[in-house]
Amino acid sequence: MPKPDLDRPVGPYRVVVVCLGNICRSPMAAAVLRDRLDKAGLSHRVDVDSAGTGSWHVGEPADPRAAETLSRHGYDDTHRARQFQRHDYSEFDLVLAADASNAADLRDLAPTPTDAAKVKLLRSFDPASPPGAEVPDPYFGEDGFDEVLALIEAACDGLVGQLAAGQQLV
Ligand code: 4NP
Repeated sequence: MPKPDLDRPVGPYRVVVVCLGNICRSPMAAAVLRDRLDKAGLSHRVDVDSAGTGSWHVGEPADPRAAETLSRHGYDDTHRARQFQRHDYSEFDLVLAADASNAADLRDLAPTPTDAAKVKLLRSFDPASPPGAEVPDPYFGEDGFDEVLALIEAACDGLVGQLAAGQQLV
């Protein structure tokens, strides 16, 4: 993939965050990423979406715990879950997986090696995180949404920093 040219005439750079259900981690990451892009003055040059590898929650809003966490921290919590599709690869430049299992499922689904190369772990953009770091799934736990949000914020800060600098991402 070429270096992200945010000024390319064909349209904005397109990023999708993907987790399992698209009701906890990826909607939170999409909300944080949109916020950081807005603050960096890049929201008109980068489009952000989210999706899940699974179909169980298609059409649902964010999990109430994710929505409450976003809202309490000042983020938009508007969301409708959808499943990531094979043809989505033609719509996105960068596919950000929440964890290694999501990344493996996404690479299996990729129509071409070039598309598979678009898949990166979200936390790989956090310069303080070790290689292979994941965003843990908070769905089945009693809490942990604030901790998950903090991991997402660090990753999104790193990603927006790289986008602003025009660094090669994939
Ligand atoms: P997410 O969390 O992948 O962060 O949206 C989950 C949501 C639902 C399920 C698993 C994880 N589920 O098995 O229904």
